[in-house]
Amino acid sequence: MPGHPAPGTPVVCVQGLGFVGGAMAIAIASARDPGGRPRFTAIGVDLPTPLGHERIDALNAGRFPFVTGDHTLVEAAAAAHAAGNLRATSDPAVFAEADIVVVDIHLDVARADEASTIDFTGFRAAIRTIASHARPGTLVIVETTVPPGTCERVVAPELAAALRARGLREDALLLAHSYERVMPGEDYLASITNFWRVYSGHTPAAADACEAFLSQVINVTDYPLTRLASTTASETAKVLENSYRATNIAFIEEWGRFAEAVGIDLFEVLTAIRRRPTHNNIRQPGFGVGGYCLTKDPLFVGIAARELFDRPDLGFPFSEMAVRVNAVMPLVSLDRVQTLLGGTLRGKRILLMGVAYRQDVADTRYSPSQTFVEEGRRRGADVVVQDPLVTEWPELGIAVAAEPPPAHSVDAVVLAVPHRAYRAFDFSAWLQGATPIVLDANAVLTPAQRQAVIASGAALHAIGEGRRA
Ligand SMILES: NC(=O)c1ccc[n+]([C@@H]2O[C@H](COP(=O)([O-])OP(=O)(O)OC[C@H]3O[C@@H](n4cnc5c(N)ncnc54)[C@H](O)[C@@H]3O)[C@@H](O)[C@H]2O)c1
Repeated sequence: MPGHPAPGTPVVCVQGLGFVGGAMAIAIASARDPGGRPRFTAIGVDLPTPLGHERIDALNAGRFPFVTGDHTLVEAAAAAHAAGNLRATSDPAVFAEADIVVVDIHLDVARADEASTIDFTGFRAAIRTIASHARPGTLVIVETTVPPGTCERVVAPELAAALRARGLREDALLLAHSYERVMPGEDYLASITNFWRVYSGHTPAAADACEAFLSQVINVTDYPLTRLASTTASETAKVLENSYRATNIAFIEEWGRFAEAVGIDLFEVLTAIRRRPTHNNIRQPGFGVGGYCLTKDPLFVGIAARELFDRPDLGFPFSEMAVRVNAVMPLVSLDRVQTLLGGTLRGKRILLMGVAYRQDVADTRYSPSQTFVEEGRRRGADVVVQDPLVTEWPELGIAVAAEPPPAHSVDAVVLAVPHRAYRAFDFSAWLQGATPIVLDANAVLTPAQRQAVIASGAALHAIGEGRRA
């Protein structure tokens, strides 16, 4: 019957059902052959922890495990559930059913100013779990962001040892690497299926198998795949592209301060510069950089050099400085508010609008807002937070209001995240004659909203804009 998997449909296990794996499992289950039949049965695998079970239960009920503004992802989860080709479990024995395993678990960095490091224990254990159950010939695709060299020097030896212990050939599994560029947000699902992919294989056969799989999940007609020569090259591509982005953002920070000091609008300057095709992706000043990836990925190259390639002589000052600059960027906004409020935050009430790490997501991991709130409170301010998508802020252990408090109850408002909801927010109706300091820290406000704030009598300031200071 079209819509349901045919007997013998290949099984893909996705290990790790977080922001990447949860969406990837749904993307895989949504792939259809020309006759409309599912190309794969997708089985999500997570740990038997409360968090793991939450994610497993959600997928088993046909729900995406996270709040998302992407209705296509929500609908695709329900459709896959109805078609019967998406389920999830904490039982690793399921890897024995797999033709393909996609690894989407996390790999955290112990961040330090000098010499950040990674504890591979959990990651190694996850790889061993796959190798302890998978059938010979299964393709293992690592999508987790890893230090370059990890597939060759960590994953392949772990697979080999576990296979040896089973009396199997050390190369009985095919190993490939292909990294995710998924963008949680309004185009969450499409950012997996309609986007360019890079991949590589530990062997040519693994690369071919990886290509064949990706070609059935991703729209490769419009978004052709790129094969690289080795897994180390593909791992480097991921880490380098995120390091480039983080450095580009960090680089602009000092120019924002300059613009504010000399009374120019840096956004106007940047728009002029972007007319040059070679410079059209120059970043702009903002509130800060958060999320799970850009805050750690630039550290991976140094870790790889020191820990995987025994080359402690290689230095990566730009990438490491980008992480440092971005980590303290929210304090620029805090300092600005402090100055605008007369030099002290003690006893002041500040409304922070936006606690997610980026627009239109509910993810608060490594959110720059956390730095702002913690330091603001340390300096004696009463920082109240509001976000249209986040209801609980796990890192701070607090509830987050969906609506802002009355404008007359706050001394300052900081717009931190350009959520779509904020661009439609009626500031005139909210201000109602109140005149708090308004700091647009992330180019959130539309021209009409700016006019509304100014017309209400509130003082409007913006990060990167000296003109209005
Ligand atoms: N979040 C993003 O936007 C994004 C984008 C591109 C790439 N990445 C990369 O993708 C990877 C995953 O990121 P994420 O945001 O989905 O992480 P996450 O923390 O949201 O999810 C990881 C999941 O893996 C599970 N897990 C850990 N060990 C496991 C094991 N042994 N067996 C089964 N499940 C296990 C965890 O319980 C968790 O549910 C990271 O390397 C990240 O850098 C993330």
